[in-house]
Amino acid sequence: MPAAPDPGLAPVPPVVPPRRAPGTLRVALLGYGVVGSEVARALVEHADDLAARAGARLELVGVAVRDASRPREGVGTVVPADLLTEDAQGLVDRADLVVEVMGGIEPPRSLIRRAIASGASVVTANKALLAAHGPELFEAADAAGVDLSFEAAVAGAIPIVRPVRESLAGDHVRRVLGIVNGTTNYVLDQMATYGVELEDAVKEAQGLGYAEADPTADVEGFDAAAKAAILASLAFHTRVSIDQVAREGITGVTSADVTAAAQTGYVIKLLAIAEQTAEGVSARVHPALVPAEHPLAAVRGAFNAVFVEADGAGPLMFYGQGAGGRPTASAVLGDLVSAARDRLAGGKGAYESAYASLPVLPADAAVTRYQVRLVVADRPGVLAQVAGVLADHGVSIDTVRQAVDEVPAPFTPGDGSAGSAHLLLTTHAAREASLASTVEALRGIEPVHQITSVLRVEGV
Ligand code: NDP
Ligand code: HSE
Repeated sequence: MPAAPDPGLAPVPPVVPPRRAPGTLRVALLGYGVVGSEVARALVEHADDLAARAGARLELVGVAVRDASRPREGVGTVVPADLLTEDAQGLVDRADLVVEVMGGIEPPRSLIRRAIASGASVVTANKALLAAHGPELFEAADAAGVDLSFEAAVAGAIPIVRPVRESLAGDHVRRVLGIVNGTTNYVLDQMATYGVELEDAVKEAQGLGYAEADPTADVEGFDAAAKAAILASLAFHTRVSIDQVAREGITGVTSADVTAAAQTGYVIKLLAIAEQTAEGVSARVHPALVPAEHPLAAVRGAFNAVFVEADGAGPLMFYGQGAGGRPTASAVLGDLVSAARDRLAGGKGAYESAYASLPVLPADAAVTRYQVRLVVADRPGVLAQVAGVLADHGVSIDTVRQAVDEVPAPFTPGDGSAGSAHLLLTTHAAREASLASTVEALRGIEPVHQITSVLRVEGV
């Protein structure tokens, strides 16, 4: 009897890739603001290069705005005026690729769902939307077999989504630490370098196109918290939503804090931190003291930087422009070319992965070092009393500095003592909850006149 054919040696049928003939893909652009106008400009001015890279022409078939009659730079010159429309739904319905750069939750959420349902791939820069409704949108995109790409949503031009999701897919990320909001970095930098007041620096950032439509999203840390949620979800394969991110903005940072930081060898930065511990994952955003010699301290203006610590790769740093029209459009266009290639190849790119489903820890479980500045009575035994409060709460002191010449006028000691002194305590790593109860207890003891600031210390 002849031997059965070895399946390993069976002839292999020729592989015919499901490619469409090079043609045209229709691109709908939702929004013509800071980012959208630059995306439109590039689609028109670099059409040939983009076609060569994507494998098909990316034809801009319309641009949705609120008010199509308003005169706009580039419209009528670079971008044909008749492409502008107020009918975003109708535009989505006639596109293969939809770029959402409107911002906000609605109508972008409904428009993206509509695009996905009609089989279009979507590129968005909208971190607020993804941090709040990402799971629903990713599930819809996966079910429809289309891309939902969002490189521009985190740290503007910096390629960080793709490296974390794809390049590090075989590694184990432990921690992500970053400056991910250009507006607040610009503001803190202006305060530290030129002594500019916070409100004035925010206005400058708005004028430069860095700030969100409502800059509260920047200064109160919501924008960075949305990015922290996205980064934590990607890094730890666990869904983390914005309401699980502990958030504190920069409105409480004073010129005195910035000066004191400089005097003690630190720079204040708004940091987004996502980390995995034995208990689960945590994500938080807050101003922090960063040592002046740390690379993050050198991140100036509206630039962003993200550190990733992975078991195999070790520390990685990504640096670049985190806001502004052209930098953000660069990331949008990269996603658009990738989405076009995936479409032409008949598939979709990387799926969103949440397989690990780790517990997301509460804010007070975070462990970090703190610097506490306080004004105390300047008399014997006070330091020991303060140290005792910290010891009672299990918080260990690393360093103590005292200065009697920094007492701010018009502070008048009410205890009849010789005067008051500034104490600067730096702790070893402690739980957020322990530090909070320590500060509360310090407020309650007589020699403590004022707690001037409590700042976390990172990057040491
Ligand atoms: P802008 O406010 O400058 O532009 C928004 C655009 O969307 C405008 O053209 C506006 O129309 C249009 N739009 C808004 N709502 C509607 C609506 N309901 N119907 C029709 N059109 C609408 O925003 P940006 O370009 O700054 O930001 C866009 C997105 O990119 C946001 O999600 C933002 O978070 C994100 N992003 C922004 C960065 C930046 O540096 N600016 C960096 C990274 C991400 P009209 O002009 O008529 O008002
Ligand atoms: N407003 C944001 C920032 C834009 O200042 O970083 C980028 O998301």
